[in-house]
Amino acid sequence: MTVTVLKHALITHKLTNIRKKETNTKDFYQNVNEIASLMAYEITKDFPLKEVEIETPICKSVQYELKNKLVIVPILRAGLGMVDGLRNLIPTAKVGFIGLYRDEKTLEPHEYFAKFPDNISSDDTITLVVDPMLATGGSAIAAIDMIKKRGAKHIRFACLVAAPVGVESLSKAHPDIDIYVAALDEKLNEVGYIVPGLGDCGDRLFGTK
Ligand code: PRP
Ligand code: URA
Repeated sequence: MTVTVLKHALITHKLTNIRKKETNTKDFYQNVNEIASLMAYEITKDFPLKEVEIETPICKSVQYELKNKLVIVPILRAGLGMVDGLRNLIPTAKVGFIGLYRDEKTLEPHEYFAKFPDNISSDDTITLVVDPMLATGGSAIAAIDMIKKRGAKHIRFACLVAAPVGVESLSKAHPDIDIYVAALDEKLNEVGYIVPGLGDCGDRLFGTK
């Protein structure tokens, strides 16, 4: 298990854009996707490669291509905001969906939807679960429980903004997965929002408040 806090000037700049309360829905969505693309570059940098024999216009040659298939699983709704950015870089990835919402009082996650591609349980599939926010960690833990039940094996989790308590809970519940975060914030407030955070990510992405 590793926890990687990605350090990149562009990621930091774009995170500042989405933290600003005046950023509108269109710019918020665009910046979330751009951060997801930049994160994809880092998350995939150690993906295994396999040898392939190809023919260039000049000669036959042995080259390398990705060994594994990738399945991206956004946690609805906010995770959807990262999907286009990831697929821009990895267009062959298949996409599964997990619908979870956090009860406002108890902060417990509740499942309302699940749909996965058949290859999620294949030995050669890497599954990347994405959600911009890791607060208590309850939603990410529940999502990873669900995909493990479906047979997913090589799992990575990526989020934009995490609270320390969420990273700790997720690492304890699923010590076998690698976690990538763009920013590790200070804490949760008394109603379970990340501080300084960016507010309610789903509402800001989709203009619902
Ligand atoms: C948000 C966020 C995560 C969850 C994080 O979703 O996108 O899924 O909260 O909180 P946790 O770590 O304490 O579980 P929310 O439940 O607000 O649903 P939404 O994406 O539909 O807005
Ligand atoms: N979910 C959000 O959208 N924002 C937070 O700060 C915490 C959970």
